[in-house]
Amino acid sequence: MPDNQTGVRLETQLGRLRLTNPIVAASGTFGYAREMAGLVDLARLGGIVPKTITLLPREGNPPPRTVETAAGLLNSIGLDNDGVETFVARQLPYLASLGPAVIVSIAGKNADEFVRLAERLQQAEGIDSLELNVSCPNVSGGTDFGADAALCERVVASVRRACSYPILAKLTPNVTSVVDIARAAEAAGADAITLINTCLGMAVDWRRRRPVLGNVLGGLSGPAIKPIALRIVYQAARAVNVPLVGVGGIASIDDAMEFFLAGAAAVQVGTASFYDPTATMRILDALPDALAKLGAGSLAEVVGTLEGLGIRD
Ligand SMILES: Cc1cc2nc3c(=O)[nH]c(=O)nc-3n(C[C@H](O)[C@H](O)[C@H](O)COP(=O)(O)O)c2cc1C
Repeated sequence: MPDNQTGVRLETQLGRLRLTNPIVAASGTFGYAREMAGLVDLARLGGIVPKTITLLPREGNPPPRTVETAAGLLNSIGLDNDGVETFVARQLPYLASLGPAVIVSIAGKNADEFVRLAERLQQAEGIDSLELNVSCPNVSGGTDFGADAALCERVVASVRRACSYPILAKLTPNVTSVVDIARAAEAAGADAITLINTCLGMAVDWRRRRPVLGNVLGGLSGPAIKPIALRIVYQAARAVNVPLVGVGGIASIDDAMEFFLAGAAAVQVGTASFYDPTATMRILDALPDALAKLGAGSLAEVVGTLEGLGIRD
């Protein structure tokens, strides 16, 4: 059903996962949604990806874990979380009560850990989909799956066998060719591919002769990485047939529309929620009019319709 006064249809299909609209809160930037409840009409979101969970609790990296950069944020949180059992007991019931699709982000040190997480979550109520974080740059071993097509394929295929949830594979930009990894994730049965996680970066306090972050390296996010994310979505859209979820520096309706045209069937809002917690709502409010401006009666009519691509790549 149209969910706005213009009658423009906003629903979107990510393989087996259907969202009422394409605006999704990105992992690690929206907590477990409780923190945002007074600021965001959570029920209106298309989906929520809570902070990545692991099998066992993790403390994450030593502080400082975040530092602002020009037009961006550098973080090295390191998957600080309370583990799957606490998530299922304390966070999931609340998330499931909200209405938007609950897309649980999981990370393991190896394929077996991903499988054990998927099997455990298969027993839980209230999950619509899993997002496989094969891309965290802040955890030793964590980025390898996303950097190696064969490993990525194995993880996605194993999780696909272990559970019945639609699977989103979230990939890292910190490789030579994300397209090769995206093809592997598609071949392994991913329902959709989320692009991108943070770009590996560094900050130095030269007066102290020290790196700023306790973990030395961190992941860059925010407006600084938007052109990179957009380029990767565009390239992946030409290489795979599964739907794409764009993420990276999206803070406005213009940003979101750029990603839809480049080929994203949904977008996630990350860092923008830190400095404007209403960013997701602003984008959602403006979406019907923006689609109507292109003469579209639905989001689907706009996805991947970029023109003027005479000069390629
Ligand atoms: C502080 C912070 C923590 C994050 N934690 C996670 C995480 O746990 N899992 C994950 O898949 N991505 C995580 N991300 C990455 C975001 O979900 C997103 O992919 C990335 O920040 C790019 O989008 P943005 O520029 O809109 O923030 C984190 C990002 C930030 C800034």
